[in-house]
Amino acid sequence: MESSICPVITWILLAENGLPPGWLDPPGFLAEAEQAVYQGFRFDVRRREWALGRLAAKKLIQQARLQPAVGVVLEPVCIEPDWGETAEALRAIAVLPAADQGPRVQILAGSAWRELDGSLSISHSHGRAFCAFAPGCEAWTGRLFSGRLFSAGIGADIEKIEPRSAEYVQNYLHPQETLWLQQTARLQSGVMLKTLLWSIKEAALKSIRRGLALDPRAPVCLPELEALQAGGWHLARVAWDVHFTGGESFPDLAGWWRRLDDDILTIMGPI
Ligand SMILES: CC(C)(COP(=O)(O)OP(=O)(O)OC[C@H]1O[C@@H](n2cnc3c(N)ncnc32)[C@H](O)[C@@H]1OP(=O)(O)O)[C@@H](O)C(=O)NCCC(=O)NCCS
Repeated sequence: MESSICPVITWILLAENGLPPGWLDPPGFLAEAEQAVYQGFRFDVRRREWALGRLAAKKLIQQARLQPAVGVVLEPVCIEPDWGETAEALRAIAVLPAADQGPRVQILAGSAWRELDGSLSISHSHGRAFCAFAPGCEAWTGRLFSGRLFSAGIGADIEKIEPRSAEYVQNYLHPQETLWLQQTARLQSGVMLKTLLWSIKEAALKSIRRGLALDPRAPVCLPELEALQAGGWHLARVAWDVHFTGGESFPDLAGWWRRLDDDILTIMGPI
């Protein structure tokens, strides 16, 4: 990733227990089409998670649209939600599930909804919602896709640092990652490293809009050792092993990860 002109990638993290009162009960910020999806969930926990993700996404998009689309950015920009805005203003943004279950954003312009030119990704964990947004612009498409037409965008993931089983290593890690884990585990807790790899994989699988429909061994990431000790955002890269993609090829991805308290946050894209 070069430090020249890049799309300005923004992110937000909302905790359900940190919201001003009344935002989720009821979620008056949902557009009509979103209300229909919301009402369709059978379990309250999923309904609340979904609504929190929508709230975070809308707050992010609202603020991100005030940012310049491109700039000299070295890392993603954190957006603080503006709670002065009314729920009604957020009803002009609709974040609906696309056919692949990834988010699709529409904006109300006059009386018509139009697709937002940009890429959004949503992740939930333990009462928190983490979203990242990248504007769609010439710089992004020309630079990121190297002239190739490819359906990929931003992928975000939040993952709580917690133990993972031996089956996890066996079933989800690429052989090179397993080796990396063995070599690195003496420097860092294996719990943290396994969480990190999983977070990068999920963000990568969302970036190419496949999710776990693709074998999680397909995205291969070997994070740099020195970055593991320090705070803040760190660069990450993902390549794809066609042995696990059924022969399909995808663009290499790049992005960032960071530790925030007991979570790993990751943002990946075809950068
Ligand atoms: C995408 C996926 C990896 C998400 O992982 P997760 O740990 O369950 O959950 P996260 O909270 O991190 O992410 C969930 C968000 O990912 C997004 N998402 C779902 N499918 C996506 C896809 N194909 N591409 C990009 N984003 C996707 C959605 O925005 C979802 O949140 P929402 O439904 O509230 O809008 C996983 O749910 C998945 O693969 N879903 C697709 C369905 C599928 O193929 N299932 C096979 C199960 S083996």
